[in-house]
Amino acid sequence: MFLDGQKVGLRPVREEDASIFQEWMNDPEIIQYLLIYLPITLAAERQWIENTNKSKDSIVLTIVTKTPIDGKPIGNVALVTINKKDGHATLGIVIGDKDYHEYGYGTEAARLMIGYGFNQLNLHRINSSALAFNKRSINMHLKLGFKKEGRQRQKIFKNGKYADEVLFGLLREEWKK
Ligand SMILES: CC(C)(COP(=O)(O)OP(=O)(O)OC[C@H]1O[C@@H](n2cnc3c(N)ncnc32)[C@H](O)[C@@H]1OP(=O)(O)O)[C@@H](O)C(=O)NCCC(=O)NCCS
Repeated sequence: MFLDGQKVGLRPVREEDASIFQEWMNDPEIIQYLLIYLPITLAAERQWIENTNKSKDSIVLTIVTKTPIDGKPIGNVALVTINKKDGHATLGIVIGDKDYHEYGYGTEAARLMIGYGFNQLNLHRINSSALAFNKRSINMHLKLGFKKEGRQRQKIFKNGKYADEVLFGLLREEWKK
């Protein structure tokens, strides 16, 4: 395991994750909260995994359960566009398996990734954002200590209308507290 928590562990993304990722990324209930909107083929998903694992400026990990089942992939979490000069990166997270929503798995997975960002990558800040109607994600960010830094109005067209995007930031000194 790459990073170990109580309920979840984070491990590198594997080629065989492609079909489960594809399932999540084609589920309207999941992608309503994400920036992607086009259907994804298995070949595209495999290519994405290959590119991701080669990337020098992002780290994407698969979230796997520890309890009640060991090693079941339920989502992924990432730090992307890692900027070494200014010491920041952008957090992304999805619990793709809806049976695991609202049990604290997302918060723990994000916490592990953020800890890695500050402690191992020596980041100074982590950027993130959520669509304004994504109450679970907004609450998760606030619980993790992110500060709301802005709101871009009517930024993303989702479900037939424009949604605002809420911008978040978390500084290293705030995390240490
Ligand atoms: C957003 C997401 C990562 C949160 O992970 P999760 O495991 O479902 O959420 P958690 O159980 O850790 O809950 C986090 C907080 O959200 C809030 N929350 C949970 N359910 C909620 C609901 N139905 N309505 C509003 N807030 C809710 C709570 O404050 C909760 O913390 P608490 O239970 O300690 O009070 C996950 O739901 C997900 O992947 N959703 C689909 C994709 C997505 O939205 N990704 C994020 C894009 S920015």
